[in-house]
Amino acid sequence: MLKDVSLKKYNTFGIDVKADWLADIDSVEQVLTIIDDSSGMPKLILGSGSNVLFLNDFKGMILLNNIKGLKVVEENDREITVDVNGGENWHDFVMWAVDNNYGGIENLALIPGKVGTAPMQNIGAYGAEVKNVIENVYTVNMHTCEPKTFSKEACDFGYRHSVFKLPENKGRYFIHKVRFKLYKKYYQVDTSYGSIKKVLEQKNITTPGLRDVAGAVMEIRQSKLPDPKVTGNAGSFFKNPYIDLKKLEKLQENYPNIPFYKTDKSDIVKIPAGWLIDQAGWKGKRFGDAGVHPKQALVLVNYDNATGQDIKNLAEQIIADIEDKYGIRLQPEVNFINHSPSENIS
Ligand code: FAD
Ligand code: EPU
Repeated sequence: MLKDVSLKKYNTFGIDVKADWLADIDSVEQVLTIIDDSSGMPKLILGSGSNVLFLNDFKGMILLNNIKGLKVVEENDREITVDVNGGENWHDFVMWAVDNNYGGIENLALIPGKVGTAPMQNIGAYGAEVKNVIENVYTVNMHTCEPKTFSKEACDFGYRHSVFKLPENKGRYFIHKVRFKLYKKYYQVDTSYGSIKKVLEQKNITTPGLRDVAGAVMEIRQSKLPDPKVTGNAGSFFKNPYIDLKKLEKLQENYPNIPFYKTDKSDIVKIPAGWLIDQAGWKGKRFGDAGVHPKQALVLVNYDNATGQDIKNLAEQIIADIEDKYGIRLQPEVNFINHSPSENIS
């Protein structure tokens, strides 16, 4: 257990705040002991800190999820079911699946973070979402110590959403294990996302395997997104907004080239927030050490010593400007951490 510890290296934004206490958690039993021993003290569960923005010192205890382990539960010709503990690194799990020729998560290569956080916002990229391979999510209630298993249906997964993101559930459940079903024989890779196809074509790969797809995704990601080890960031700062067709038609009157994507609802489309922010002139703007990335307008960055409040102020200016220009209110994807976990917003 560490006391008065700087969180700079525990969040990819590189925000330099302090926590009163930080506990490295390597078992469920340890979670239960800490809940028992420190009741009343605010607690925050942290994976790799790649989707949080600390606004101030954390007056309480950080529980760093380092519960390791992977176990094959069952297997046949077509499928394999695996239980992965929440403290495993997400990308390492993806590469384990690729190395063993188990399909289903190769498009999610190189997403930072821990396995236990993946269900939280239903991580997604390049045409895939983690909900497609999740069977169960295993948790411990942080107030009562009771174990609770959420089936895939109970998780209520949506675009960058799950039951765990609801305000009443934030900080309530410690996700310590996730059960995945991956695919073996007859599995077809998904290369439908435009830029994957392009990379594979450039390499003359006509019948791509899992490794080719993961490789293409990694290449695209490395070319577009800033490496948090070099420039602090938390990936996309905002979610891509959903609007109805009426609103789209209205916007097209002024912005005939506005890009949009179909959703599962025929009257709703998704607009890339990066395009809105870019068109509004924010791309590459810098205010002190807080800025909008010059290559990807959806990513806010900490060039060195920005505070969480500096980043939040910039985000608020962008939200107001986008609302003013397009009548769309952007929602942050990043989790704001404000003193007590019960006060967090997302
Ligand atoms: P943290 O930041 O540690 O935590 C995030 C939230 O979950 C916090 O509120 C925390 O309290 C809570 N939490 C953490 N662990 C647990 C747990 N075990 N139980 C309960 N609650 C918990 N995301 C995508 O979906 N797609 C992308 O393509 C993508 N690209 C990214 C690229 C970059 C460069 C970066 C920096 C981020 C990107 N992200 C992306 C966002 C991020 O990687 C994911 O949201 C990831 O799942 C966060 O994992 P983490 O362990 O770092 O979470
Ligand atoms: N665009 C611009 N200017 C920009 C950025 C984007 O015009 O500066 C436009 C372009 O038209 C581009 C479109 O936006 O074609 C989409 O951009 P991109 O393919 O980079 O994807 P995104 O919508 O910005 C989303 C996810 C990413 C995920 C990628 C790939 C969200 C909020 N973000 O980004 O996830 O990796 O698609 O699937 O859904 C994350 O969640 O942290 C994250 C990085």
